[in-house]
Amino acid sequence: MILSGKEVSKAIKAKIAEMMGKCDRTPHLVTISVSPDPSTRSYINSQTKAAKKLDIDHTHRELETESGMGKLIEVIEESNQDESVDGILLALPLPEGYDKLQAINHIDPEKDVEGITATNLGLLFYEKPFYYPCTAQAVLEILKHYNIKVYGKDITIIGRSTTVGKPLDLMILEKSNNGTPTVCHTRTADLKQKIKEAKILIVAAGKHGVVETNMLSSDTVVIDVGINFVDGKLVGDVKRDKALEKEKNISITPVPGGVGTVTTTLLMSNVVSRCLAITKNLEKN
Ligand SMILES: NC(=O)c1ccc[n+]([C@@H]2O[C@H](COP(=O)([O-])OP(=O)(O)OC[C@H]3O[C@@H](n4cnc5c(N)ncnc54)[C@H](OP(=O)(O)O)[C@@H]3O)[C@@H](O)[C@H]2O)c1
Repeated sequence: MILSGKEVSKAIKAKIAEMMGKCDRTPHLVTISVSPDPSTRSYINSQTKAAKKLDIDHTHRELETESGMGKLIEVIEESNQDESVDGILLALPLPEGYDKLQAINHIDPEKDVEGITATNLGLLFYEKPFYYPCTAQAVLEILKHYNIKVYGKDITIIGRSTTVGKPLDLMILEKSNNGTPTVCHTRTADLKQKIKEAKILIVAAGKHGVVETNMLSSDTVVIDVGINFVDGKLVGDVKRDKALEKEKNISITPVPGGVGTVTTTLLMSNVVSRCLAITKNLEKN
């Protein structure tokens, strides 16, 4: 079975439209970049497109490498202070010589719609961030949409990055999910056995072929987070054998059209939900 991210996005977009109807102004996302490389630029372009389709304002503030950390922080602070801005996204990676952590942590946590500041990641330990990291949240939204219960299940995650694997581990542990995660990485002993034992497998390694269909047990649910280009084609981390998938009753997210699609929609949803919260606050006062 294919777990279509497009279907999940459609459901989230309906909720976004409902929220938009209650906002007293147009929600506004600002993306800040410093000399973005081609793949980062294409990611920014996809945000512009997604925002436009949803009638969300999107401003791209592009700096040159020579601008320096001081200027980058100044631009972030301007967006923090600007009351018309609901969400701030810092396009990564930054050029050499820039301090990524310092830059990220200048973003107002209430406008950190990607959920990546130290404040939001710290609040995640208390199960109370302003925003959850979008990609990790997308994984859980897909499972929820397809009514795949995390509760009481052994869930294997491949990848321990700060953006995907680690927050996902905490989110699966939350009392609202009650799953039992195992996080694997390049030094994990006997990864193949861990893959075989997984009932739900989340793959976020950034390596095409780290998982192959023949490694999976029957009835496994696979969420493929990976984005890789192989022979000019966009593929995930799983090397798929579609006939074998069918034989083993594997459920899997496609790439493209899986986690990435949902991540972008959730990002937009966070922007709109912040705008709605401000509207409600103004109405109260
Ligand atoms: N769809 C989306 O919205 C979305 C969003 C973000 C990222 N992504 C994609 O998801 C993938 C992961 O992104 P990331 O930022 O988390 O990457 P990352 O920071 O490079 O982390 C990759 C993780 O995978 C582990 N890993 C790599 N190769 C492995 C192997 N052969 N066996 C076991 N573990 C392995 C690494 O282990 P070590 O720690 O031991 O090195 C590391 O923990 C990338 O393809 C990225 O493009 C997609």
